[in-house]
Amino acid sequence: MPFFEPGLDELVRKGYQAGTLTFTTAYADALDGAEFVFIAVGTPTTPSGHPDLSNVRSAGREIVRCLGNRRAILVSKSTAPVGISQTLEHLHQLDGGLDLPIVANPEFLREGSAIHDFMEPDRVVLGSDDHEARAAVGELYEELDKPIIYTDMKSAEMVKYACNAFLATKISFINEIAEICERVGADVRDVARGMGLDHRIGAHFLNAGVGFGGSCLPKDVRALSHLAAVYGSHPQLLNAVLEINSEQRRRLVGRLRNVLGGLRGTKIAILGLAFKPDTDDVRDAPSLDLINLLEYEEVRITACDPIAAESARRVFPDLECEEDPLLAATGCDALIIATEWQQFRNLDLDALRRVMRTPVIADGRNVLDAETVRRKGFVYLGFGVADGPGLPVVAGVTV
Ligand code: UGA
Repeated sequence: MPFFEPGLDELVRKGYQAGTLTFTTAYADALDGAEFVFIAVGTPTTPSGHPDLSNVRSAGREIVRCLGNRRAILVSKSTAPVGISQTLEHLHQLDGGLDLPIVANPEFLREGSAIHDFMEPDRVVLGSDDHEARAAVGELYEELDKPIIYTDMKSAEMVKYACNAFLATKISFINEIAEICERVGADVRDVARGMGLDHRIGAHFLNAGVGFGGSCLPKDVRALSHLAAVYGSHPQLLNAVLEINSEQRRRLVGRLRNVLGGLRGTKIAILGLAFKPDTDDVRDAPSLDLINLLEYEEVRITACDPIAAESARRVFPDLECEEDPLLAATGCDALIIATEWQQFRNLDLDALRRVMRTPVIADGRNVLDAETVRRKGFVYLGFGVADGPGLPVVAGVTV
């Protein structure tokens, strides 16, 4: 596979060997005898914040061309706000009014658990004005025995955006609460536990830290905010969600600057480059923002990630990477945990204390126990966890 997704290699191999899964770059081959055509191409954000629909357009155009007079149901899994339906319908008009049914079928898969999410979805959403077509697509999912929500096309597209925006909002909300906790001396982890047990709130997506990344949450909140603005709405909450998220990265760097009495000339280790564990994806990852901010202050950076180093090197070709977190931390004035990989939860703190020049840990994912880390002689900076005594320390001066 060109990217890492647990279990996908095996699943693809199984389908391929059984002959139920084939690959081709020729539209005509893929469409031969097809009753349903799923479009799952990317919709990256343009600099203006609007999703780039050119991939959808070119796929749509080729499909319409190759189908000729044959009929098939087009199922769109690509994410675009109230856009794909219009784009595809427009294409039909261009191509002589060929009337193909289109069904929006947003996906809610998470990277790293996409197979599970596909097989065990909380719900399936199918949106179309063609009720027969959406019922036909519904039959494909019947075997999963999960709730199927039928809507019009635009509402289905909106469900997708609203879900990702809500998840992002939960994260920015808890990050704002975390900052208040730091100031008043409360612990955001306890606060989140207390909140999460309320069924109306739920425990998920309440982990404070360096904020959300990945190819979906940041892109989709930006796209929804842009869509709202285009339609004359003022998306204040969405904009605040994005602003709080970027601020998380700047706050972490600012706190290190304070603790170390300046950053210029220091050496800092970043543990975790992927935007979350179990993936090698670094798109919009907090680590990239941290590297940019630190490089700007001429910090020497060493990074460590079990599988995402190569992806990060495509963005930062000169990035110094070590396979072992201890090697990455050697001679460093601070260590940042940017992704909560299991191996970073179980760091050997005594060994770390011996190899680091200045024992400062900035826990960007709140995975370490503040008290334990401080007992081992470190300055510990968590999110939503009050600073310990003895701050600031100065780079190079052992505390
Ligand atoms: C997200 C959604 O969770 C999926 O439902 C959706 O289908 C997908 O986007 C998509 O649109 O394709 P994904 O991007 O794989 O999935 O990642 P998430 O698990 O949602 O995590 C996103 C980011 O939020 C990560 O950087 C993660 O570290 C961060 N996060 C998550 C927090 O900072 N705090 C939390 O409490 C939870």
